[in-house]
Amino acid sequence: MKPTTHWHLIIIIAVALVSQDSINVECRAHFHKKQKNKGSSSGYPPPSPPQDPAPPSPVLPPPIPSDPSNPPGSSSSNCIFDVTSFGAVGDGSSDDTAAFRKAWQAACAVESGVVLAPSDYTFMITSTIFSGPCKRGLVFQVDGVLMAPNGPNCWPKTDSSKQWLVFYRLDEMTLTGSGTIEGNGEQWWELPCKPHRGPNGSTLPGPCDSPALIRFFMSNNLAVRGLQIQNSPQFHVKFDGCEGVQIEKLSISSPKLSPNTDGIHIENTKYVGIYNSVIGNGDDCISIGTGCSNVDIEGVTCGPSHGISIGSLGVHNSQACVSNITVRNAVIKDSDNGVRIKTWQGGTGSVSGISFENIQMDNVRNSIIIDQYYCFTKGCRNQTSAVYLTDVSYRNIKGTYDVRSPPIHFACSDTVPCTNLTMSEVELLPYEGELVDDPFCWNAYGTQETLTIPPIDCLQDGEPESEGEPSTYCSKSNMPSLQTALPPELANNAIRQYNTELVVDMVRQQFKKHMHETDPEKIQKLKDDAARGLINHMLYESEKMSGRKFSNST
Ligand SMILES: *[C@@H]1O[C@H](CO)[C@@H](O)[C@H](O)[C@H]1NC(C)=O
Ligand SMILES: *[C@@H]1O[C@H](CO)[C@@H](O)[C@H](O)[C@H]1NC(C)=O
Ligand SMILES: *[C@@H]1O[C@H](CO)[C@@H](O)[C@H](O)[C@H]1NC(C)=O
Ligand SMILES: *[C@@H]1O[C@H](CO)[C@@H](O)[C@H](O)[C@H]1NC(C)=O
Repeated sequence: MKPTTHWHLIIIIAVALVSQDSINVECRAHFHKKQKNKGSSSGYPPPSPPQDPAPPSPVLPPPIPSDPSNPPGSSSSNCIFDVTSFGAVGDGSSDDTAAFRKAWQAACAVESGVVLAPSDYTFMITSTIFSGPCKRGLVFQVDGVLMAPNGPNCWPKTDSSKQWLVFYRLDEMTLTGSGTIEGNGEQWWELPCKPHRGPNGSTLPGPCDSPALIRFFMSNNLAVRGLQIQNSPQFHVKFDGCEGVQIEKLSISSPKLSPNTDGIHIENTKYVGIYNSVIGNGDDCISIGTGCSNVDIEGVTCGPSHGISIGSLGVHNSQACVSNITVRNAVIKDSDNGVRIKTWQGGTGSVSGISFENIQMDNVRNSIIIDQYYCFTKGCRNQTSAVYLTDVSYRNIKGTYDVRSPPIHFACSDTVPCTNLTMSEVELLPYEGELVDDPFCWNAYGTQETLTIPPIDCLQDGEPESEGEPSTYCSKSNMPSLQTALPPELANNAIRQYNTELVVDMVRQQFKKHMHETDPEKIQKLKDDAARGLINHMLYESEKMSGRKFSNST
């Protein structure tokens, strides 16, 4: 993979965006196509037939007098910015990106603005960053169909192929609607670089980037509700560097064999609630990466899928910290894993305070699994450090398993045992075929509060012989959260190269040495340095690539 190849383009885009005049629309410009009477007397024409490619002259919204019942400045959410008023065609083939951008800018500028993609239309837009800061209470409402370009051949070469819709630097924003977000992922799944999609079932070498469908980045107090989200080329909904996320009544679906189509992925994100959602896909139903804490998952149905997964963590000897995750009242069916924690060897940090409770398994392989030897290349070396797993409870987990693998599998690190695993009312029976009665444990310590079915006698009582405390605790206080780690104006640029991992690593490297720094001025300087280092690196790479000079040197 060569992430550097896109950088010069990204810089150009960044410059273009920065130099754009900010559009400031007052709330008095009401586009009050009310949702209640949509379709009937709203006076909006049906989608016009496809026309000749129109010149990209800016289509300005018609001036509509303000609604007398909603005087200007009223904060009731009547500031509806219907994308069709901004020139969106919605015929499923016209490129409506410009109209969405304009509607976004208008809605962003008013309190409780609503970007509306109305029902009975199918809008196609290309990869877009909807960025803030915006006025509070912004709503992005999809009642019709909003779809991505159809596969890699239709993906503009200048667009990032890592993500499609990005919501960035927002506070108090809602993504909702009664419509569908369609990823058109099929041709991405079939790329010959995808596992076994090459000639004769081979896997051709990459690069193999495919876009995540919806990404929220460095934003707080988000709600995502009610939508159907389907056929993503890669992850469906992804959050990184966010705090305060409420997900409710989502329906996510992709075929069982679509590669890497995780349903909901979170990383470096705190205070997350995922409720009453139904997810069927080709990879993890929900995946929780490093830097997540205080996550509450309830009423989720997964399947087919690869289950609910914490990890993978600790890749490339990195530090991973995950704590306080609760999964309750879930159904997992026809899945390759049930509830899983996976870490690479050689990592540091910890996973603690994890609770899986009231989970019904239905024909699930590896219903309960801890894998601290996660590796997808051959011959990962045995290493002496590992992410420390502790305080993990499994309560009232019942149902059936696929007998191709043992239903309970605790493969803890050789050098850093798992401690305080609690099993209570775990009863798993074969879906069909013979009982697998040899659960596997390695270096796993904990208690069974009730007899487990199948019986598990490899779980060791008490505490491991002390070989000293694992040297890998996560600092509770001084670990910077991503959004406080970069000053906004620098982050604004840094984000455009989209490689969050790089940002996080840079920040982490800066902070490792200064973990106990308390002087706010010094902390600010560290943040600035981390961001500046990253940006310099980007500039250097992009100049090298393009032979042009972007930086005004220092
Ligand atoms: C695929 O397999 C067929 C039959 O086994 C063989 O003739 C062909 O050369 C193979 N193609 C490639 C690209 O390996
Ligand atoms: C654990 O997370 C929940 C939210 O899911 C939060 O309400 C609770 O306070 C957290 N507990 C601790 C000890 O931080
Ligand atoms: C790594 O450790 C495991 C468990 O102790 C052992 O079975 C395996 O042979 C080791 N692998 C290597 C490459 O040393
Ligand atoms: C073990 O984990 C449970 C949570 O699963 C926690 O309440 C308890 O305090 C832990 N016990 C010890 C000895 O740390």
